[in-house]
Amino acid sequence: MVARVIPVNTFDLVIFGGTGDLARRKILPGLFRRFLSGQMPADSRVIGAARSDLNSAGYRDMVRAAIDEFGGDEKAETKKLDAFLAQLEYVPVDAKGDGGWKELAALSRTDVVRAFYFSVAPSLFGDLAERLHTHGIAGPKSRIVVEKPFGRDLDSAKELNATLAQHFDESQIYRIDHYLGKETVQNLMAVRFGNILFEPLWNNHYVDHIQITVAETVSVGGRGAYYDRSGAMRDMVQNHLMQLLCLIAMEPPSKFGADEVRDEKLKVIRALQQVEPHHIVRGQYDAGKDTQSYREDAENPRSFTESFIAMRCEIANWRWSGVPFYLRTGKMLKARSSEITVVFKELGHSIFEDDDTSHQNTLSIRLQPNEGMDLQVTIKEPGPGGMRLVDVPLDMTFAEALGDTDIEVTDAYERLIMDVIRGNQTLFMRGDEVEAAWGWTDPIIQGWEARNDVPKIYEPGSSGPEDAMMLLHRENRKWRNIKA
Ligand code: BG6
Repeated sequence: MVARVIPVNTFDLVIFGGTGDLARRKILPGLFRRFLSGQMPADSRVIGAARSDLNSAGYRDMVRAAIDEFGGDEKAETKKLDAFLAQLEYVPVDAKGDGGWKELAALSRTDVVRAFYFSVAPSLFGDLAERLHTHGIAGPKSRIVVEKPFGRDLDSAKELNATLAQHFDESQIYRIDHYLGKETVQNLMAVRFGNILFEPLWNNHYVDHIQITVAETVSVGGRGAYYDRSGAMRDMVQNHLMQLLCLIAMEPPSKFGADEVRDEKLKVIRALQQVEPHHIVRGQYDAGKDTQSYREDAENPRSFTESFIAMRCEIANWRWSGVPFYLRTGKMLKARSSEITVVFKELGHSIFEDDDTSHQNTLSIRLQPNEGMDLQVTIKEPGPGGMRLVDVPLDMTFAEALGDTDIEVTDAYERLIMDVIRGNQTLFMRGDEVEAAWGWTDPIIQGWEARNDVPKIYEPGSSGPEDAMMLLHRENRKWRNIKA
């Protein structure tokens, strides 16, 4: 199946932090792929803006090298790369001073879609927003894109929201959570709201519990300084896992519109119960044969920051009351694997007397890698010997089922940038949503800080600390295996 490409209007995209890591790894290679797909009209421009003293020719060389280093199959399109690079400009800009703003203003066009990507430290958001206005570069229809971390607690998130609100309306602000741009994360909504099959069962009458796992094999090496101030709770749970939880738990919105979807997500966050301390397990990876420990990577021998967290959450509303949601994420685990599993209840009564095992249907949605769905159903064990039952998977890998689509090649960032250009905020976090998420996260973090909680050490390449297993075992449940 060939992916459908929706045309976009002419745009100017200014990337503040245009020479930074995210721009080189994700944004620019992603834009080149969109260019190849015909989603970058010939008169559109990407303008890099950063402190480095480069000119446009120097910037194009840098972008060429970045695509060569971080790009995928698109690297082979060397002839078209020149045409893409010709649409790039660069202006050296001082976010905190006056340098470069006049030059940027001179490039500014008012008759095209204008978007400004703040791929910089949040401490610069206010300076950029203000200067875009004082120099008349941004107008009432311009859009700004802001990266995580959006604050490190409720107070700082409120402050950031207030700063941006001085210059931009909420409808102009696109807060990125790249998980929302992942194909399969959107598929969660398609599975739930595009099928009649699941929705009637999607509640506490039929669901025993839900597991959300985002396991990574990478360490925090190289990002230790940032990570040690964040930990898995701030880095992954408050944003990415929270978004997954919302999409799996929210009520059906009346339509797939930006505020309709975000209103429903917000209700889920507000209905989240505070988590009891004994329902939280924090971990830190140990040194391996050839790998450093978390504390060595973070260069902090006394660090209490968690590189792993597992927790049991509950949503206090009519649909979910009594259904545990188990969340788990960590670095240096045995496989890179993200999945959500809905475990249904056991049958109330079995008519098969020969069968003395228990059976539960499960629906797993694999987010990455090998995106797909797996529905465990119970059938008869083949052969004679009575009616004994066995659970088997109805497994579907999306790429196989759909043929040659662009599931693999469309990165979350390029999809989200195109949504910004189209003016579609559905897959971006609204200010109140981010604040509500911090409002839930803050007391949990404050709790373990007050208790001086020390993370449990776990083996690199494992499934996390033993205590995380116990979180489910003591309720007669079991985590799904983390497997690639
Ligand atoms: C980022 C986190 O937001 O998401 C990283 O800061 C994490 O620590 C990454 O590794 C995971 O993203 P993905 O797309 O690789 O699952």
